[in-house]
Amino acid sequence: MRSSSSPARTRLAALVAGAATVGALLSGAAAHAADSPLRDLGAAKGKIVGTAVTGSKLTGTYGDVAAAQFSSLTPGNAMKWGSVEPSQGVFDWTEADQIVAFAQAHGQQVRGHTLVWHNQNPNWLTGGSWTPDRLSTLLRNHIDTEVGRYKGRIAAWDVVNEAFNEDGTYRPTLWYQGLGADYIANALTWARAADPAAKLYINDYNVEGVNAKSTALYDLVRSLKARGVPIDGVGLQAHLVLGQVPSTLQQNIQRFADLGVDVAITELDVRMTLPPDSAKLARQKADYQAVTAACVAVTRCVNLTVWGFTDSDSWVESTFPGEGAATPYDANYAPKPAYHGIAEALGGATTPPPTGACTAAYAVGSQWNTGFTGNVTISCSGAALSSWKATWTYGAGQRITQAWNADCTQSGATVTCVNAPYNGSVPDGGSVSFGFNASWSGSNPAPTVTLG
Ligand code: XIL
Repeated sequence: MRSSSSPARTRLAALVAGAATVGALLSGAAAHAADSPLRDLGAAKGKIVGTAVTGSKLTGTYGDVAAAQFSSLTPGNAMKWGSVEPSQGVFDWTEADQIVAFAQAHGQQVRGHTLVWHNQNPNWLTGGSWTPDRLSTLLRNHIDTEVGRYKGRIAAWDVVNEAFNEDGTYRPTLWYQGLGADYIANALTWARAADPAAKLYINDYNVEGVNAKSTALYDLVRSLKARGVPIDGVGLQAHLVLGQVPSTLQQNIQRFADLGVDVAITELDVRMTLPPDSAKLARQKADYQAVTAACVAVTRCVNLTVWGFTDSDSWVESTFPGEGAATPYDANYAPKPAYHGIAEALGGATTPPPTGACTAAYAVGSQWNTGFTGNVTISCSGAALSSWKATWTYGAGQRITQAWNADCTQSGATVTCVNAPYNGSVPDGGSVSFGFNASWSGSNPAPTVTLG
């Protein structure tokens, strides 16, 4: 057969062969597309699944994913005091309004974040010199104004944020120093008056496991309840480091639930040293899965919110130099293993174990005026096969006439080749090849081979 190929055709064939090497990754990608959205999986488990968002980004793919996957939105910055009242008496509700409207349009809850904090306050507030009475009035007015504006439209407010030091003592904020520890009880009471339907939370970080800080929070919640102060929930921020999900997370959630309050995971992210690699992403999946499973295990854990759903909208890289990749979607909105960790813990389809290291490469060997020889090489690295099936579709009427080292059939344009009895096994680091003769006319474009 090769005798019929002219030198010119041989050169052409070499060019075609070079261009025709098409790799096919054997992966579980097709299985992912059928997964239910996180918000539906969460609903089936009685959980709200949320994300922090940036209002200006809620269009295009970012908006589509936020709407499709999540049943709760938390403004990442838009409701903080410094955002809503940059100058005293001058309010800017633009972004907060936008997020609330988006949530309403998509059947989503809103978590209000946050009313009383020591960060991201306006300069006029932090730079002022206030008597305790005046400071108390400023705080009450702030709560009345903001909670009142969104009355009936906020499912839960993070009323007080980050009130404790790591050792469980009160953080010496402008509120604590100016008003004493009762600023917390007062803020909760004022928030309740401004919107009786909103669930009122105290929120903090490094309180995910049982430790001195979470125990101080626990003692506070218990005493607030004993005093009749309105407190409905505790927010565990959960800004976690890769591989460091506290082993006492579920126990800690349970002890708050047993006090008679709801628990929310309010700001989940799992940061890693950059750059990410497959081992780190697999670890991150396990971490997201563990946090979600702990919430699923406790009925009163009502909301699991991630602090940004895409690596392109995360606070981590600018806050922790050298760390990042902390969210469930990459910067191009592709779901990462972490996404599947959440989905699986919510009862979604299990991602197949990674099989991505076996590939198939198609190449044209020689080609003459009516026919050609072809070759497919299946190579494995970090994986192995005990049998294989390679399929492809010919786009220009090519037809297999004979094959060796595989059993090939063609139906219409679809070619299916399965291993011969003696070469089904492809070891890790090894490869097998099979060959065929085929006819062509007009053109002979290379197909993409799928391994299955
Ligand atoms: C972060 C925002 O995500 C950033 O955009 C901003 O620059 C700083 O604040 N704990 C909280 C959140 O309660 O409000 C913080 O959000 C992250 C830590």
